[in-house]
Amino acid sequence: MYLPCLTRSYRQTGPMKKYTYPIYSVSRGRLLGILLLIVGSLAAAQDGNPLLQGLYSEAQAARGALAYGENCASCHANDLRGNSNSPALTGLSFLFLWEGRDLAELFTRLSTDMPTDRPGSLPTDTYLDLLAFLLQHNGYPASTASLDMARLAGEPVTIVPPPQ
Ligand code: HEC
Repeated sequence: MYLPCLTRSYRQTGPMKKYTYPIYSVSRGRLLGILLLIVGSLAAAQDGNPLLQGLYSEAQAARGALAYGENCASCHANDLRGNSNSPALTGLSFLFLWEGRDLAELFTRLSTDMPTDRPGSLPTDTYLDLLAFLLQHNGYPASTASLDMARLAGEPVTIVPPPQ
């Protein structure tokens, strides 16, 4: 009478132990899945960033290069690396300050404060050209369409590192 009972209870603990293990491993699997999803969507957000797809035209950046030489290079240098008085507009130090911020904010900064000796004195289109040149110089790809005020006022564009 006792023997089958014992066997049964032994058999019950067996499957029960086995049952708890899969639950544990499934939740760990789910956790991993969620993590992968987060990492994946972050990567997708980077891929989908308009800056990496091209947000200015070559012609715009070429005009910007000329305007930069005339209005900005005296302080920020021809290679955009700045000097002891003026900050660099390229490279890691620039990215350190601007990564994660809105491109429109950068535009406002240069179009209202620059050149420091006559702030906001250039036409809006010239400031757009200058921003295009800064983007090109920093390694962001060009597109066929030009960057305009409507685009800057629209969906925010987060500044991410340029493609390697
Ligand atoms: C007379 C010197 C001078 C000229 C000319 C000048 N800048 Fe500047 N620029 C500065 C200085 C100094 C700063 C930092 C202090 C400040 O923001 O006032 C600065 C800051 C900047 C910043 C912000 C950089 C940062 O990381 O915060 C941008 C962008 C910029 N300049 C772009 C331009 C552009 C584009 C032009 C040409 C239209 C230009 N500057 C002309 C001196 C100058």
